[in-house]
Amino acid sequence: MPVKVVVGAQWGDEGKGKITDLFSESADVVVRYQGGSNAGHTVCVGSEEFKLHLIPSGILHEHVLSLMGDGTVIDVQCLMDEISGLQARGVSCANLKVSGCAHVIMPYHRLLDGLQEDARGAGSIGTTRRGIGPAYTDKTARMPRPVRMWDLLDEARLKERIEGQLAQKNPILRHVYDHEPLDAGEVFAQVWPAAQRAQQYVCDTRALLMEQVAADKRVVMEGAQGTFLDLDCGTFPFVTSSHPISGGACLGTGIGPTVIDEVFMVAKAYTTRVGAGAFPTENKGAEGDLIRERGREYGTTTGRPRRCGWLDLVVLKTSARINSTTGIALTMLDVLDTFQKLQVCVGYEVGGRTLDMVPSDVDLMEQVKPVYIELPGWQEDIGSCTDFDALPANAKAYVGKIEEVTGVPAKLVSVGKDRDQTIMR
Ligand code: GDP
Ligand code: IMO
Ligand code: MG
Repeated sequence: MPVKVVVGAQWGDEGKGKITDLFSESADVVVRYQGGSNAGHTVCVGSEEFKLHLIPSGILHEHVLSLMGDGTVIDVQCLMDEISGLQARGVSCANLKVSGCAHVIMPYHRLLDGLQEDARGAGSIGTTRRGIGPAYTDKTARMPRPVRMWDLLDEARLKERIEGQLAQKNPILRHVYDHEPLDAGEVFAQVWPAAQRAQQYVCDTRALLMEQVAADKRVVMEGAQGTFLDLDCGTFPFVTSSHPISGGACLGTGIGPTVIDEVFMVAKAYTTRVGAGAFPTENKGAEGDLIRERGREYGTTTGRPRRCGWLDLVVLKTSARINSTTGIALTMLDVLDTFQKLQVCVGYEVGGRTLDMVPSDVDLMEQVKPVYIELPGWQEDIGSCTDFDALPANAKAYVGKIEEVTGVPAKLVSVGKDRDQTIMR
């Protein structure tokens, strides 16, 4: 297993935190390769629940080297708060390293994210308002030079970067959003205390990871968000601004694709989405509500109720291909325990055709009508099953259908939030 990618198959919140934590026990390195504090990854250990936004979900294992790669975006205040929160609970962050190339989410990014969303009105994306889009926008714009983690090591350089950024941002704030301009000195004063504390974590994670890979260390690359929130492969423009797909693991860390041995796609046994955008199997009725309540489907980062619906195998089949998936980690199967009948989408009808893959034309995706098959439920509590054979026959058949349509084995099945509520196959 030396290098394994954990990627979300749907629209995020599939349980990547739980799966990454499980894999971390037998890993040497866990690296986040994209996204920032828009992510909310939950790890449950006994009665304790940890909600991680920036820090890799391997952090609870003291032996693991935790890296935040080049492709992540770092809100330094969030980072320091998260580190303090973990330390207060007895979790060491001594093995945490953050890429100097990671871009910094600055106060003006958070401000702009909110202003842009408000200005979009009914057409808003429903972002997490964590400044993600504006920070990645500055990264791709390149000039004026945005703040990267390296810049936090040098006070004068940080000041220079902030001044350059505000020279461009203030006219936008004033003329586009009718917002008062920001003062460079004040912005510096807001970030500098946390920046100084973060300095000790900054390093060349690319070189470090290459060394680890060369030494045959066991690496887990932890994706945030999900395949259909990917900037290119997702339901644009209702996507995030980075690359959650398995290919993003290379972009966001600086290692090449041939060192990856396994791609684990984390898939929920049903579908959820937070924020706007196409969602063919969304169920706005009682069944969707039941999934939301049983699955505690409220955002880990924003607390927003998640949109819920039936399992979409068109989505999973497409994800399986996009990510070159070698194994599925199927989560939340227990959430479906009480249903008598389960609907599963196996095709999309649109314009007199039936599609078995997600169309890349998002306008078409908005129009598709899901084609369902009905599978019998199992109506049994499966939360204590640790052996696949011990699952009710209908639950095994449900998993079998997913494997048949995607062509990928479900190597892991999760039947509850805790570490031991996991079936390894
Ligand atoms: P992530 O963003 O992909 O890491 O997922 P989140 O942490 O945002 O959301 C997943 C939620 O489901 C968390 O509250 C987990 O504790 C919980 N969870 C994970 N796996 C299972 C499972 O198999 N069954 C149930 N019932 N809950 C699970
Ligand atoms: P994890 O890693 C679910 C969604 C937002 C919005 C869109 C763009 O916990 O699975 P952004 O703030 O990134 O510009 O928002 O992406 N989104 C997520 N949805 N899980 C996440 O992360 C998400 N991160 C962003 O709701 O629709
Ligand atoms: Mg989440």
